[in-house]
Amino acid sequence: MPLTDAYNRTIRDLRISLTDRCNFRCFYCLPHGEPSWAKRETLLSFEELEYIAGIFVSLGIEKIRLTGGEPLIRRDVPVLVEKLARLKPRLKDIALTTNGYDFVRHAEALKSAGLDRVTFSLDSLVPEKFAKITGVDALERVLASIDLAQRLGFAPVKANAVIVRGHNDDELVDFARFAREYGIAMRFIEFMPLDSGHDWNRELVVSGREMREEIAGIFPLILKEANRGSETAWKYTFADGSPGEIGIIAPVTEMFCGQCSRIRLTADGQIRTCLFSTTETNLREVLRSSPTREQIVELIEKAVLAKQRSHHINDPEFVQPERTMSFIGG
Ligand code: GTP
Ligand code: 5AD
Ligand code: SF4
Repeated sequence: MPLTDAYNRTIRDLRISLTDRCNFRCFYCLPHGEPSWAKRETLLSFEELEYIAGIFVSLGIEKIRLTGGEPLIRRDVPVLVEKLARLKPRLKDIALTTNGYDFVRHAEALKSAGLDRVTFSLDSLVPEKFAKITGVDALERVLASIDLAQRLGFAPVKANAVIVRGHNDDELVDFARFAREYGIAMRFIEFMPLDSGHDWNRELVVSGREMREEIAGIFPLILKEANRGSETAWKYTFADGSPGEIGIIAPVTEMFCGQCSRIRLTADGQIRTCLFSTTETNLREVLRSSPTREQIVELIEKAVLAKQRSHHINDPEFVQPERTMSFIGG
């Protein structure tokens, strides 16, 4: 029986954060750095992750995405990927979300270890703006990473831009042109209230609709599938047949919680069933108390059953979760 929650949603995707640390300081995520990093001994080891991932896969998880903070800050990530790849073919897909700073160094090892896909964060195509948004002058490095990912055959390569009004909303069409030239999937994400600075406000959110209309005004778009299943993005191809793809991720104005198939494991071993959860299940503590496999399965099933129906960003009484995106992993 696959993992199913109280609203009949089947859980197929596990997102594992490998560290809460990051070498960037994206203003929409970690503007001042995390006040306190998770203690080293609380991080799950690769052996622990391998064991837990095996249990999750036996419970129907088909996709594992490694995130962070910046996952490549953890040493030897290819070693973990190799362990996870042993769970194939029941595990269908292993992916990585990275800021791209250090990807080039690890790319080939990741590929041969069995990594299937990579998503990069790319919030501006203008070097000075990129530096302002992320706190690091690294646009060239990230572009080199994207280029290498393409050449190594990670497919499809995706790039995420969190669009924030007044910061990078003037680059939508340039991003779309970039997607066409590189033949990548460029995805635009609405700004969510998960920033450590608590600077989020509604005026800063550029709606998915606004983004799509602006791009389609220059490059007409065709919706790929009217039913996106549990995916977050509405996907579009270019009407003129150009390579590349556009994805619009609009969690604030077009909530997609009803079809959510995701569950998350934080770097310190807490199960989070929603980005906006206010409670977590301490898997680490149980795992380290020599439980039986059945006890772990029970804990996971119980956490999944308590998965909340949706986020409440649009409710007047919404309270931003304490954990920021850097901790939860996007
Ligand atoms: P794939 O779809 O496997 O390619 O994964 P991905 O991480 O590249 O993309 P995904 O669509 O899963 O996530 C992209 C972004 O969407 C994340 O960085 C988050 O900003 C947002 N997102 C992902 N999952 C959720 C979710 O469950 N709820 C909300 N509100 N936002 C999400
Ligand atoms: N709102 C939306 N997306 C965010 N991300 C980080 N913080 C936010 C936020 N506040 C995205 C990043 C990255 C992924 C891990 O999460 O762009 O691609
Ligand atoms: Fe680091 Fe990603 Fe957060 Fe940027 S969005 S500060 S790259 S964790």
